[in-house]
Amino acid sequence: MSEQILTFEQVSYQYADGTMALNQINLSIEKGKKIALLGNNGAGKSTLFLLMNGILKPTSGSIFYSGKKLTYKRKEIQQLRQKVGIVFQNSETQLFSSSVYDDIKFGPKNLNLPTEEIERLVKEVITLTETESLKDKPPHFLSIGQKKRVAIAGIVAIDPELMVLDEPTDGLDPYYSNRIMEIMDKMNHRNRTILLSTHNVDLAYEWADEIIILNNGHLLAQGTPIEVFNKKEILEKSHLQKPWIMEVFEKFHRTDFSNKKYPRSKAELFEMME
Ligand SMILES: Nc1ncnc2c1ncn2[C@@H]1O[C@H](COP(=O)(O)OP(=O)(O)OP(=O)(O)O)[C@@H](O)[C@H]1O
Ligand SMILES: [Mg+2]
Repeated sequence: MSEQILTFEQVSYQYADGTMALNQINLSIEKGKKIALLGNNGAGKSTLFLLMNGILKPTSGSIFYSGKKLTYKRKEIQQLRQKVGIVFQNSETQLFSSSVYDDIKFGPKNLNLPTEEIERLVKEVITLTETESLKDKPPHFLSIGQKKRVAIAGIVAIDPELMVLDEPTDGLDPYYSNRIMEIMDKMNHRNRTILLSTHNVDLAYEWADEIIILNNGHLLAQGTPIEVFNKKEILEKSHLQKPWIMEVFEKFHRTDFSNKKYPRSKAELFEMME
């Protein structure tokens, strides 16, 4: 049976000015999955993420982590933050050390690991994220895309069981965007769940096991990429488009595509067309 790592039960969140950012959300995140969260600007994606590691507390409803209801006691939240690593949409709010190296080291240092282990881990993450040439720079001098990569490196370094990334490829060039997605693929396994938000339907289609769509604080859809991206009305309502691979595949097979298996990548599509 599938195991849920995170469950939202009737969760609403209202900001101090009265904005209802999330409205009675029921949502289950299955352990070990790769999930993409999509939705219009202002849909509530970032708010949902901030609820996931206890930065925000629901105005009403409950959140369960590994089956345990969050009570928002200090110790519990501290522990939760070691299990749920978040990359914020705006990297400025994430980076605060005087060098990139120290920033990446911050998380492992807080986990009270032995010094050699910390150094080894940080080195490994720097190689993986190709941030070697940046390591002595103060984070505030970095370009937007470089900041994003350093913020991601910082989360990779704490090895969380649930990784939550708010638009991780936003601002990255195609090379680094692909690299980050490869790293996310590598990090995903039976016990590590990865949830990311994006406005890129093609990236979501190729990468995710599951797609979640939020729309103005409501959960509109949750399912496999093919299920969700075939819901025309939902896509329109959410300012989304069908992934190009699906469109080309349908065009190619004309009316006869419904019983055929959709390709999941450009390589698979091209193979079918040969
Ligand atoms: N601190 C705040 N105070 C008041 N309203 C807020 C605050 N932060 C967000 N909101 C509002 O809550 C709603 C959801 O915002 P949120 O940032 O979660 O959306 P989002 O889906 O992440 O959007 P985007 O795609 O633009 O990143 C929006 O209407 C936004 O204006
Ligand atoms: Mg956002």
